[in-house]
Amino acid sequence: MDVGIDRLGFYTPKKYIDIVELAEARDVDPNKFTIGIGQSKQAVPDVYQDAVTMAAEAADKVLDDDNRNDIGLVIVGTESSVDESKATSAFLMDLLDLPEDVRAFEIKEACYGATAGLQMAYNFVAMNPDKKALVIASDIARYGIKTPGEVTQGAGAVSMIVSQNPHILKLDNKSVYMSRNVGDFWRPTFSKTAFARGKYSNEIYVEFFTTLWKRFQEKYDMTAEDFDTMLFHIPYTKMGMKALRTLDGQIPAAHYDKLVEHYQKSIEFSRNVGNLYTGSLYLGLISYLVNGNVQPDEKLMLFSYGSGAVGEIYSAEVVAGFDKYLDSEFIKEELNNRQKISVPDYETIFSEELENAGITKLEDVHDKFYLSEIKESERLYKKVN
Ligand code: COA
Repeated sequence: MDVGIDRLGFYTPKKYIDIVELAEARDVDPNKFTIGIGQSKQAVPDVYQDAVTMAAEAADKVLDDDNRNDIGLVIVGTESSVDESKATSAFLMDLLDLPEDVRAFEIKEACYGATAGLQMAYNFVAMNPDKKALVIASDIARYGIKTPGEVTQGAGAVSMIVSQNPHILKLDNKSVYMSRNVGDFWRPTFSKTAFARGKYSNEIYVEFFTTLWKRFQEKYDMTAEDFDTMLFHIPYTKMGMKALRTLDGQIPAAHYDKLVEHYQKSIEFSRNVGNLYTGSLYLGLISYLVNGNVQPDEKLMLFSYGSGAVGEIYSAEVVAGFDKYLDSEFIKEELNNRQKISVPDYETIFSEELENAGITKLEDVHDKFYLSEIKESERLYKKVN
């Protein structure tokens, strides 16, 4: 029985800043941000948005009356959750009209959370073929104004329905993983912004990739030429390239060039949205499926990395006819129809938040799901009808 991703959805906030304008405001050569880091635009979430509302937006795009009642497992991977106790998934139960007979919970391991969720979903569906799983990655990447990480911020969510006989991607149960206690990136519970040893995290990321890639090849007797495409966790678009570059000179040049060409297609959306943390790898998958010249039955390698740190390489196969199940034009249209805001306006939004006893005015809401109120420190959410 084939198990894998049957539907894929993506949401990013409707506001963004231009990275050249950010560079100018920070007195930095724009080429550093656009070429050295590899970003063009950065999503800016509104004050009424958070990991819950974005998860709801993304999941709403893949749920329908045919699949909703088949869902038996809901997992949200996030490192920007709003509550230390209540899982993001609990808020989604009524926002998305999910059936009550599901296991719904949240997973945290930095940018690796969604991959953990996806692998659990794979096992769940393999054991319960008549059921489906909903896996969501939702995050706001916040480093802080005028920090080195600011250029690598972003926000958004990716949703996946995992089922038997999937229409988009078959997972083939080939996987290697590793975990180690590493101080490359962390966000203590008191802090709304992350702390990062940026250059160290680059080194660990590349080291995890090379270690896992060697193990993957040994375990499955495969090489880079067995894969048409390699997808990477993309906190900023230059980062995956640092890992891919380790293959330059190690594999036939024509195949390396093909992998680079496909990588360029996989980063188009991230370049215009920024870091989705745990959704980044899956935004890369969507970007490749939408923008690449994808062949039926194409073999993909996916490298997932979460600081702290966990890494995993697994493989998958594109299902012929996947394009009928992915609304590429709608995704592109949503990205093109966003509103550019100025750097000072972004700085204002960045420092604003709904206070306890605060209520969001409906006329300020430009999305379907929103944080409507904070009452006795409890966050309450609503859907615009
Ligand atoms: N034109 C073109 N490229 C330029 C440039 C210019 N004018 N000026 C600098 N660059 C290049 C540098 O050569 C460097 O390239 P390299 O990484 O290939 O060596 C790149 O731009 C970044 O420059 P650097 O001086 O290293 O930037 P920085 O000290 O501001 O730090 C990060 C960059 C990514 C480390 C920082 O943004 C950060 O900490 N980000 C968050 C960490 C993160 O995302 N971690 C991932 C967790 S998985």
